[in-house]
Amino acid sequence: MQVKHTHKIEYVHGYAADELERLVGSAATLETLLHSDVTYPAGSLVLEAGCGVGAQTRFLLKRSPGIRLVSMDIAFHSVQRARHAVGEMARFLQANVYAPPFSHNTFDHIFVCYVLEHLPDPLQALNTLKTLLKRGGAITAIEGDHGSAFFYPETQEGLEVWRCLQRLQLQTSGDGHIGRRLYSLFKESGATDIQITPLPVYCDPSRPEMMEGFADKTIVGMLNGIEHEVLARKMIAPEIWRKGIRDLLNLAASRDGIFMYTFFRAVAKYE
Ligand SMILES: C[S@@+](CC[C@H](N)C(=O)[O-])C[C@H]1O[C@@H](n2cnc3c(N)ncnc32)[C@H](O)[C@@H]1O
Repeated sequence: MQVKHTHKIEYVHGYAADELERLVGSAATLETLLHSDVTYPAGSLVLEAGCGVGAQTRFLLKRSPGIRLVSMDIAFHSVQRARHAVGEMARFLQANVYAPPFSHNTFDHIFVCYVLEHLPDPLQALNTLKTLLKRGGAITAIEGDHGSAFFYPETQEGLEVWRCLQRLQLQTSGDGHIGRRLYSLFKESGATDIQITPLPVYCDPSRPEMMEGFADKTIVGMLNGIEHEVLARKMIAPEIWRKGIRDLLNLAASRDGIFMYTFFRAVAKYE
C-alpha cells in the first residue's frame, strides 16, 4: 500500500509481505492465550470479520471442530491468501464490516480479532455486526491496548519508539488504546451481557519462546512495519529510532529483560 505522510492512512500496519507473515507467527505464539476459551458448538454458523490472511482462522477451526465458518476481510489479496492457506474448511469472501452481505439473524457467533482498533467507527461496526446475530448470539472481540505495555530495562529511546506507535495510530483512523474501551463500546451497542477478560502477555528470559515470538517478532516486528511511515512524518530522529529498536531487541538477550502487554477479550451477548 502506498502512503503519503501528509494523508491519513486507513490501516496503520499495511499489507506488506513481512507484516502478513508477522500476523501468522504472532497468532501461533498467542494461540493458547487468545483462544483458550473461544469454542463454539459443532454445527454453529460463525462469522470471522476482518480475517486478514487467516492467521486466527485455523485456530478457530481447530478449537471448534464441526463449526461452519465464514471469514471475511476488506482486503482482496488477504482473503485470497487466507483461502489458499486454510482451504475449504471455511468460506472466504471480500466484504466490508460496515456493509456485510448477509441477512439479519444469520450467525450464531461472530469473532473479531485486532480489527476494531483499526476502524474509524468501531461502534458503527458493532451496531452492524449485531444485526447479523441470531437471538442469544454473541460477539467475541480480541483487541490490544498499546497503553498497557511496559518493559525493563526501560531506555528513553525505547520509550520514544513505543510512543511513536501510539501517536501514529492516533493520527490514523484507529484507536491503539481500544482494549480499555471494549466494555463501554459493547454497552453502547446494546449488549446485555458483557464479559471482559484481560489477557496479559509476560516475557522474561525464562520464557525464550515468548521473548522471541512476542517481544521480538510480534512487537518489534510491528514497529519495524511502521518505521518508514514514522520517519517520513519526522516523528523521531532516525538514530533515536534505531537505538530504541536495538534496546527493545536487547531485552531478549538481557539477563533481567522483561516485556509486558495486555490484550482484552470481550464476549458480548445481545437479547
Ligand atoms: C491487524 S489485521 C487482523 C487480521 C486477523 N484478524 C488476525 O488476527 O490476524 C486487521 C484486518 O482488518 C481488516 N479490515 C480493516 N478495515 C476493515 C473493514 N472495514 N472491513 C473488513 N475488514 C477490515 C484489514 O484488512 C486487516 O486484514
